[in-house]
Amino acid sequence: MVTGSQAYQTMLDHHELLERELALRLGEIERRIAGGQGGSEIAKTAFLAYLESEIFPHAIAEEYTIYEAARAASGFSATVDELLQEHRALEEAAIQLLQAEEAREIAEIAGETVADFSSHVAKENNLLHLLLERDGAGLPRLLAAMEQLYVAAKVPSPPGKRDLEADLARLLLDYATATANAGLREEAAKTVASAWALLQHDRPDLAAEAARRLHRIAGGGSQSVASRRSLDPEEALT
Ligand SMILES: [Fe+2]
Ligand SMILES: [Fe+2]
Repeated sequence: MVTGSQAYQTMLDHHELLERELALRLGEIERRIAGGQGGSEIAKTAFLAYLESEIFPHAIAEEYTIYEAARAASGFSATVDELLQEHRALEEAAIQLLQAEEAREIAEIAGETVADFSSHVAKENNLLHLLLERDGAGLPRLLAAMEQLYVAAKVPSPPGKRDLEADLARLLLDYATATANAGLREEAAKTVASAWALLQHDRPDLAAEAARRLHRIAGGGSQSVASRRSLDPEEALT
């Protein structure tokens, strides 16, 4: 059983890790510039990738867990508004960094981002400590919910190698399967059949996956158009 203090410490540790890793990537930008060896663009890409893959998923997860809980507790609304603004500012900084081409400008924006993130994290640690004092017993559940959202929001594959259609289609098929398992089989089957219809011309590979899923959702006995047209009978039984 995780105590409030343990959950709080886990969050402090995670914040420290995020700060350290972001600062390391800033260091790489500065090292490349100082050495005059070029390649600040490569280091910039690594910095941006860390923001996208770790810090932004962390931010969205805390907005829908910790921030909501803090807003519901009295006295923290102004702090939550300030923290939300700082999340938006970090996103703006990432856009500016993406557009920056000159080495000094890249270093300057990345440096400001690291400093802003550190001061943001210090405010969050303080807010968490106040929440711990007020409702220590509720903190483990809150942070466990945040962890779940954080993991779900993490980018499954690096930008550039991503197949967005496939990622979204699989997300939808997983959701439909969970919906069917929860007892809403007909609704799930209709959603998957519609997905199959959208995919069949442009992405026959994903349409076949949707048809397999439809067959399973329908209990293996469906003779729908989707399953008859797209499926190998052997595959349908898997
Ligand atoms: Fe945050
Ligand atoms: Fe945070």
